[in-house]
Formats: sequence, structure tokens, C-alpha cells
Amino acid sequence: MCGIIGYVGSRPCEELILEGLERLEYRGYDSAGIVLLEDGGFRTIRAVGNLAELRKAAGQTTSTATTGMGHTRWATHGRVTEANAHPHTDSSGRISVVMNGIVENYARLRSALQDDGVVFSSETDAEVIPHLIARRYEGDLVAAVRTVIGEIEGHFAFVAASADEPHRLVAARRECPMVLGVGDGERFIASAIPAFLPETRDTLMVESGEIVVVEADSVVIYDGDQVIARESAVVDWDADAAEKGGFDTFMLKEIHEQADALSDTIGDRLARDGTVTLDGLGLDDATLARVERIHIVACGTSFHAGLVGRYLIEDWAHIPVHVEVASEYRYRTCLAGPGDLVIGITQSGETADTLAAMRVARERGAHVVALTNIMGSQAVRDADGVLYTRAGLEIGVAATKTHLAQVMALALLALKLGQVRHTLTASGAADLGEDLRRLPGLVSEYLNSPASAHAMEVGEKYADRPFFLYLGRHVGMPVSYEGALKLKEISYVPTEAYPAGEMKHGPIALLEEGSPVVVVATDGHVFDKVVSNIEEVRARGAQVIAVATEGNDEISQHADDVMFVPRTPPLLSSVLAVIPLQLFAYAVARARGLNVDQPRNLAKTVTVE
Ligand code: AGP
Repeated sequence: MCGIIGYVGSRPCEELILEGLERLEYRGYDSAGIVLLEDGGFRTIRAVGNLAELRKAAGQTTSTATTGMGHTRWATHGRVTEANAHPHTDSSGRISVVMNGIVENYARLRSALQDDGVVFSSETDAEVIPHLIARRYEGDLVAAVRTVIGEIEGHFAFVAASADEPHRLVAARRECPMVLGVGDGERFIASAIPAFLPETRDTLMVESGEIVVVEADSVVIYDGDQVIARESAVVDWDADAAEKGGFDTFMLKEIHEQADALSDTIGDRLARDGTVTLDGLGLDDATLARVERIHIVACGTSFHAGLVGRYLIEDWAHIPVHVEVASEYRYRTCLAGPGDLVIGITQSGETADTLAAMRVARERGAHVVALTNIMGSQAVRDADGVLYTRAGLEIGVAATKTHLAQVMALALLALKLGQVRHTLTASGAADLGEDLRRLPGLVSEYLNSPASAHAMEVGEKYADRPFFLYLGRHVGMPVSYEGALKLKEISYVPTEAYPAGEMKHGPIALLEEGSPVVVVATDGHVFDKVVSNIEEVRARGAQVIAVATEGNDEISQHADDVMFVPRTPPLLSSVLAVIPLQLFAYAVARARGLNVDQPRNLAKTVTVE
């Protein structure tokens, strides 16, 4: 968690660092800070809250410093206070550090340092690092950092500066992300590429375990004492992707980018005859055909995409699919092995639990594929193969377009598996391919229709309700889970999501006169069953808000409000049905005056367990 950026060059860097931090704010926004190397020492500015607060604290004075670092924090160890905000310095004020991650043995290190008389000024785990570096420092920051990373346990990425070496930064990473930006006479180091994207597109990846020495005209990467040669690569992301593009919020913009996310994810992978080509899986067709079981591991919204994928793979390819939240999977006795395909779904490619679950399965000999939106992310590096979604950068903490892209990627995989296993006929596969190809158009049609505006109106109507129950069956079940997660994470309204048929085994007791129940009731073989469940909740006085298929005349007799979506084959209905629930949640949060892009307590990338 947390975002870090460092700069060494010839330009005054205060504004570059502040702007870079603004583009990293999705990684955490409890507090922020910068340090500028000037006048033979450090000028450190820190503030509780988001980057706007840091800008206020920085004031109008402009620094001429050309070396500096910044940090935006998602608290792990220590409360949200200015003292706990990074950067942290050693007692002499000559070493400064920003860190992302966790120092697992910090308590032991801290008490050893305290025994030696070191006085700590924060409650963080990170503060041990500048103190340790200061103790090892003999005029060579690289040597000190090399010694210190041998003393600390955990996963981290940090950047260190010495006031005695004002034209260089030294960074180290273990598991947590870090990337370099190579400019003309200037270098950036950051947690993620967007931090420096407007300044340079020339990037260098830093591998886990490496140390990097960054100066204005050079970057030296070390693996231990060995210097590593590495070519830079040019990224083709559009800098505008990090802007809101005319929408009030990133979340709304990203909801409206979902048709593109779907069509880009299909790209050139789906031929007219339905043949699917998925380069990068690391399995040839013959091996893919022999896959015996599939395990899907993921967290949050990515987990919900996995649940949708299960229906598609089991129906089209007849392979049993087990879907589990990664934080549970990683600690169970793992029975995956050779012959099994394990798919880690993580839009960021950095979620600690998903990475750990993938690792466990890989150690057992399963073939592990990363399904991710981020090129070169840790998940890709830890896997045997990769299946990219092409949703573009997602800034809103609440995932929207990456979810739809994940479902599409899984649908392509399901279709491919059905073909290589001959569980689909050629004409059946071609028809399904056509169904998939139609989805982006249907999403676009929906988002530009009065129906999507109506979903927002329904959200506003119910915005003051204190609790919502979400229900769905079959493929509508993960849709209800995702709708409930969207509502709770951006509006802070308690929700419960349940398989509709399971509702009478407990959750029905929550209902009283007027309780709002959101039901995914799109057309399909379980529609009548869902209607029965609707009647059960209505009999207890509940108000029903249904998501239903356009042209279904019956549903209005059973629901107080209906959010209609375009018709698709039932198995693909989740792609459309989830959108009104995103909009519904959005409208509730906005009506409550909340910041939907940065919900409290959350971060876009969860790199801690
Ligand atoms: C989604 O709205 C959430 N913010 C969260 O559940 C997210 O999906 C989860 O943290 C997994 O992230 P990942 O896809 O980057 O692994």
C-alpha cells in the first residue's frame, strides 16, 4: 500500500513530486508528505489527509531543490497522524526515507534501537529504516542500504536520501512495486508509472530484491553487489487516461468506459468463426484440453468476476471450477497440482493475498495464470502465464470497468476451453463468439439510454435508507454480491448479499415494513424461482428494486421499481445487470455527499495481507 515517488534532475522538483503524488493518491490518502534536499539538509512537509492538505501545508513558497521524494500513505502501523506521515528521518536529520509495505520485524528492531538510545518520533514500522541506515552510514548510502535490507524482514519498497549525497536517491524493493522513469537529464522512481507519465514514457522495471541508485543522468541497478544491465521500455498509455475526461468523478468516467473495456479486451482474440486465440497462457491447446480442474483465486470485485466465470467455464467447457477468496485459499491445505489450472484474478496485479494464493498453487505444481489489467505487474511476474484485460488505467477505488473486462476475459477463456475440449460444436462456438462481440454495443446502448439515467434516479429515491438486502440466483448471485459491495464501499450503507434461495435460511429475519431489497431478476431458467423469492420478501413488507430484462412485462407486477437492461443470452446477463447496480450505488453515495473516488479506509491497491 502507499504511493512513493522520487526525483533527481535539474528542474525544481517540488511541483513534479506533488503532481506525481496526486496521480498516486489512489494507493492511499490518509496522509502525505514530501522531502526536498536543499541548503545542505532536508525540508520536510507533511500533512494529515489527502494531497490538497499537503499542498496547503507546503504553502506558496517554491523550493529550488532538484532532488526530492514524496509519499501518500495508507496506514498500516500507527494511527493517521502527521507524526506517522512519511518521510521519516533518523535522529540526526541526515537520512530520510519513504516506504511502501510492511517491516515485519520492526518491533524487535525498534526495541534494539531504543536500547541503543535512539528516540523514535512516530509509531510506524517504516521509521526503523532511516535509523538503521544512519547507523550503517559511512559516507556511502548504497552500502548502508545494502546492509539494512539484510536486517529487515517483510515486503517493502523504499527510497532513501542522505543530506550528504544530495544528488542521488537509493531505493530498494522486496515484493512491493517500484518502477523507474528515464527522462532527459532527470530520473524518477515511483510505485507506479502514472506518477511520472506526463514527464516521461521511458520506463525501467525494478525486480524484487534489487537496489537502485538514481542520479540525474544515470540509474544503476544492483542485485547484491552485481550491476544488472536492463533495457528501458516505452509505455503507450495516454496521459489523459489519468484525468476525468469531463465526468464528475473517475468512477463515473470508468463506468462509461465499460463498452471500450469489453471491446478492447476482445481485441483481436476472437475470430469471426468464434475461434479464440489467447497468447500468453503458457499452455498449448493440447495441454489446455487436458486441464482437469480450475481454481480461481481473487479478492473483492475480482472474486465476483471469478464467480461469474465459473458459470461460463462449467457450462461451455465442462470443467469443474472452484472459486475462492485468496485470503482463505492461501491458508488452506492446497490440493491443486499438475493438471490443474489456477487463475489469479487481480486488476492491479499487486494484491498481496492473491499473489500469495497463486504462489501456494504454483509451488504445488499447478499451472498458474495471472488475469490482470496491469502489464508487468507482480502477478504477471509470479505466474506461468498471463491473460490481460485491456480496460485501461482504473483510478476510482471502486472497481467497475476492470470487473466487466475480467468477465469478458473469462468468457474468452471459457470459449477457448470449450473449443479445445470439443464440448462446444463449431457452430455453437461461433454463436457464442457473436454473443460476446455484441456485448460492448449493448453496454454502450444502455449507458447512453434513459434506462441508465433511471437507475441513478432509483438510487436517489432510496438514498436515505439505512440497510439494503441484495438477492440473486445463478449468474445473478455474483451480480448481487458485486452490487452490494459497490454500495457499501462508496456509500457506507450496510448491505447483505445472498443467494436468493438461501435468503429464507436467515437473512429474511432482517426484513421489516419498507426494507429495500435489490433483486437481480433477469430472464433465464431461474427467473420464476427469483419471482417466488421476491414474493417471499414482499410478504414481509419489503420494497423490491429489481434489475430485469428489457421487454419483460411481468416483473413490474412484482417490484416497486425496475431497472431494465438490454437482453442478452442468460449466461451473459451479468455483464449488463451489474451496470445499473454500479449506477445505483453511485447515486446513493452522491446523494449522501460522499467522495466516491476515495472512499474512507480503502485503497486501490491492497499490497498488505
Ligand atoms: C473493488 O471495488 C474493491 N475496491 C476491491 O474489492 C478490489 O476489487 C480488491 O481489492 C481486489 O483488487 P485487485 O483486483 O487489484 O486484486
